[in-house]
Amino acid sequence: MQMNDYEREHSQFVRRHGAECTVLLKTDGAFPLEEPGKIALYGSGARRTLKGGTGSGEVNSRYFVTAEEGLAAAGFTVTTKAWMDGYDKAKAEAKVAFMKAMKQEARERRQNVMIISMGRTPDEPTYDLPLDGEGEAAVYVLSRVSGEGADRSPVGGDILLSDTEIRDILACHRKYSRFMLVLNVGGVVDLSPVAEVGNILVLSQLGTETGHILADILLGKQNPSGKLTTTWTAWGDYPAMGEFGEKNDTRYREGIYVGYRYFDSVGKTPLYPFGFGLSYTTFALSQAKATLEGETVKTSVTVCNTGRFPGRQVAQTYVSIPAGKLDEPYQVLAAFAKTKELAPGESETVEMAFSLRDIAPYDEASAAYILESGDYLLRLGDSSRDTTVCAAVRIPETITVLQCKNVLDKPDFTDWQAPASAHTLPENVPVLPLAAGAIATRTVADAPDPAIDPRVAALSREQLIKMNLGAYDPKGGVASMIGNAGFTVAGAAGQSCMTVPGFPSLVMADGPAGLRLSRRYALDKEGKIHALESSIPASLTDFMPKVFLWAMKLMAYRPKKTDKLGEQFATAIPIGTAVAQSFDPALAEGLGDIVGREMERFGVHLWLAPALNIHRSIRCGRNFEYFSEDPLVSGVFAGAITRGVQRHPHAGTTIKHYAFNNQERNRTQNNSQVSERAAREIYLKGFGIAVRMAQPKAVMTSYNLVNGRHTNARRDLIGDVLRSEFGYEGIVMTDWITVGYENEKDCLYPNSNAAQVCMAGGDLFMPGAQHDYDRIKAGLEDGTVTEQQLRINATRVLHMAEKLC
Ligand code: BGC
Repeated sequence: MQMNDYEREHSQFVRRHGAECTVLLKTDGAFPLEEPGKIALYGSGARRTLKGGTGSGEVNSRYFVTAEEGLAAAGFTVTTKAWMDGYDKAKAEAKVAFMKAMKQEARERRQNVMIISMGRTPDEPTYDLPLDGEGEAAVYVLSRVSGEGADRSPVGGDILLSDTEIRDILACHRKYSRFMLVLNVGGVVDLSPVAEVGNILVLSQLGTETGHILADILLGKQNPSGKLTTTWTAWGDYPAMGEFGEKNDTRYREGIYVGYRYFDSVGKTPLYPFGFGLSYTTFALSQAKATLEGETVKTSVTVCNTGRFPGRQVAQTYVSIPAGKLDEPYQVLAAFAKTKELAPGESETVEMAFSLRDIAPYDEASAAYILESGDYLLRLGDSSRDTTVCAAVRIPETITVLQCKNVLDKPDFTDWQAPASAHTLPENVPVLPLAAGAIATRTVADAPDPAIDPRVAALSREQLIKMNLGAYDPKGGVASMIGNAGFTVAGAAGQSCMTVPGFPSLVMADGPAGLRLSRRYALDKEGKIHALESSIPASLTDFMPKVFLWAMKLMAYRPKKTDKLGEQFATAIPIGTAVAQSFDPALAEGLGDIVGREMERFGVHLWLAPALNIHRSIRCGRNFEYFSEDPLVSGVFAGAITRGVQRHPHAGTTIKHYAFNNQERNRTQNNSQVSERAAREIYLKGFGIAVRMAQPKAVMTSYNLVNGRHTNARRDLIGDVLRSEFGYEGIVMTDWITVGYENEKDCLYPNSNAAQVCMAGGDLFMPGAQHDYDRIKAGLEDGTVTEQQLRINATRVLHMAEKLC
């Protein structure tokens, strides 16, 4: 395979760091293997390994290494080809049955089969294939695919293991003296039925190099050093008080008790807690210390590698905030740091810091972030369930750290509250008193609108409306489907207006697991780009009517002799959750740098990533794109990736989906009902962190509504919170709202409306269509849209385009 230098360099970087994104859940010392030998390889992901999830996040890379290929390349002799052939056959039959069922369901629901099948996959088949592979070592690779458009279900073959899988995993565990269960998944799987297995690795989906990285880990060339960013436990242990998967309203009744905030507060021990992950080596933490300088808490701990292999460890600082007028979860993550690679016997003292301001809870009654009086216990350790109190910060009286205004309408319930946690301040633990006046009260001031650019002031009404929309194809149709509404870069997802002379157009391409483009294109004599491969995800083309596929083929561009042919091979990097599992923002920045380089190479200005919605439920179909159940982890990783991308002057990120896009069912018309407190402490917080860390060039609003109104049409969320409170300076665009794109029939809430989006200060309605143009025009005519607002939005877009193009 002839690769370009940049591809080689980028995939080597991913391979070198891949294991840092993987989480070793169990080890009995049987691995790593001393050398490659005969190995029995089983499981849904043995040959059909996954590099990532489906939907707009699918990256069209040049190649991809499966587990089977990775092991063979490392010198293993895989002895289970017959098993894998048998599995392939069972899977092919399941696919035929699935396609039939989808078509039938579409007919019954009077819905488009492509829409209802989006993100859904065939059931795991049942089979009984002999587990007769030779070798003392065996690996069972379990894959789970999920993606945009559908949520996961607590059924066998999805969140649960199927009976066939349980039977085979346990049989392998008993048969082979060295057995590892490898999870090639994008989200949580209930592992309770196979708890006795001695070696379990969350490999995740690591992009192009997945199979090579697995081989490196099995041979101890790399040592897993990731930690879970989401609690993994039995399906029945997850809280059920919040709603999920409703068609119209989804009530976030659990309030702030998401993930470990819930488990820790109710004293439930999960199978594998947040922040947990083992290593081939062992570590000891000692000399935990804390100091207070003004409003900044600094903690440090010495990590010693006490085992036999080189490895990295993650130190974590949690704070137990005292309950007062506000109820509080048992603890919240406040800071973390990863050691360098420590040789056996080597130690490192890692330092962490955070501002007390940043952990202040939100008090709806006073519309302010406050620190109530009391002792704030600082807990240090290497997982949420393994920490020791090392100091306490004593706050003598309640401080208002930031005065804001409540922005969300109220949900129709009050938040669930956990029973109060009993914290005791251990004796001999230093108490650090906060000095009077150390934290000044700040008040949010309204961010000013930009002065209208004179070139925008001179635009005609028609041009002005177009500047507020993407560069749409007036004929609409499939041209506006996800990942397929770009014009100047083949396979780009969209771009801003192209028809105002002298105004540059921003080109946008998807992510987050790399850059999503067409791999091959032709440039004709007129300078027009033609994609030579469809950029519509394969999972969708499967369901296109045959006549449509035939028409597409017929209409497909055939390059002429005079055309210039080009290639755009992008690197598939690990999925969002895996990147965050590294707990290493520097690695995330390095991955962002790879994407930024490729963007500049291919002429993409805005990457539609990273995605940082919260893992509110393990059922969300797009969790693999997102980072964590914790807002600090989510915000820091979005910020770090952004820093990497934006090292490149012509590349910017688009952090998405702002906000509350925590389920896929009926995502364009679903109404998330959330309290102001939970919104701010859990769902918006990460966006604020990313903005302050790295000023992403763009923010994408979400499809859904929040408390009765579309997020993209809320001036309060876009203006008061994002721009004024977080200090955001870039452009705001909508998610891809295509005409007639309706997930379900007979919905309570309407679809988005371009005129309302413009008036809320949403700068770009994407990808735009004639229908959206007409709506804005009608708004101007009936006075619900003002030219002034359109000019403000257009000024922002023009200035961003001039920066990046
Ligand atoms: C997704 C976005 C994506 C956009 C463009 C939408 O369906 O929700 O995340 O960036 O399509 O492809």
